[in-house]
Amino acid sequence: MVSKTQIVALFLCFLTSTSSATYGRKPRPRRPCKELVFYFHDVLFKGNNYHNATSAIVGSPQWGNKTAMAVPFNYGDLVVFDDPITLDNNLHSPPVGRAQGMYFYDQKNTYNAWLGFSFLFNSTKYVGTLNFAGADPLLNKTRDISVIGGTGDFFMARGVATLMTDAFEGDVYFRLRVDINLYECW
Ligand SMILES: *[C@@H]1O[C@H](CO)[C@@H](O)[C@H](O)[C@H]1NC(C)=O
Ligand SMILES: *[C@@H]1O[C@H](CO)[C@@H](O)[C@H](O)[C@H]1NC(C)=O
Ligand SMILES: *[C@@H]1O[C@H](CO)[C@@H](O)[C@H](O)[C@H]1NC(C)=O
Ligand SMILES: *[C@@H]1O[C@H](CO)[C@@H](O)[C@H](O)[C@H]1NC(C)=O
Repeated sequence: MVSKTQIVALFLCFLTSTSSATYGRKPRPRRPCKELVFYFHDVLFKGNNYHNATSAIVGSPQWGNKTAMAVPFNYGDLVVFDDPITLDNNLHSPPVGRAQGMYFYDQKNTYNAWLGFSFLFNSTKYVGTLNFAGADPLLNKTRDISVIGGTGDFFMARGVATLMTDAFEGDVYFRLRVDINLYECW
């Protein structure tokens, strides 16, 4: 026997599910199909550290130069990097891959960058790439960028990567922790 309240509850359920499906406000709760954590380490070239540097300013605004970040807020600087990826937060741990790509600072009144890069893996654990893109408001404790694709072991991968600044030493060194949640796995 179905009571009146049960029917009303069912109807309400139906209403909320159709309205959220229609307007798509809330993404359906889904579990990631793969979760990975990596660190990568960026040592910026500052004029006298060629051998240690893993990144370089390749473009700067008229008022800046390529050995120091532009003032204010690094705005206008474009940096190309080839950074080691490690499993823990130690710069000297054996790298498991390379993070290669660019970031540029694109906000004049605060620190904000835009990232476009790949993780390249060629180890016994993973062979393939993951590709990332998105805005990086670096003063935020966590920032989400998109995992827009992948190749090899990450064929057709899609998901979200949460970035956290794990260490920061002036303009010269920073370390990012990357929590990768893939929602598409093949
Ligand atoms: C830079 O590299 C040199 C050797 O090439 C090394 O002795 C030195 O410790 C490195 N510096 C940093 C900060 O890693
Ligand atoms: C680059 O700019 C910084 C600060 O704006 C300055 O200290 C430095 O001398 C400049 N370097 C060159 C090579 O012009
Ligand atoms: C990946 O590793 C293999 C075996 O060490 C090597 O032959 C190959 O050239 C590497 N590929 C890349 C793109 O580095
Ligand atoms: C950054 O953090 C601020 C405050 O903590 C928050 O309001 C804002 O939505 C965050 N922005 C992004 C893009 O995560």
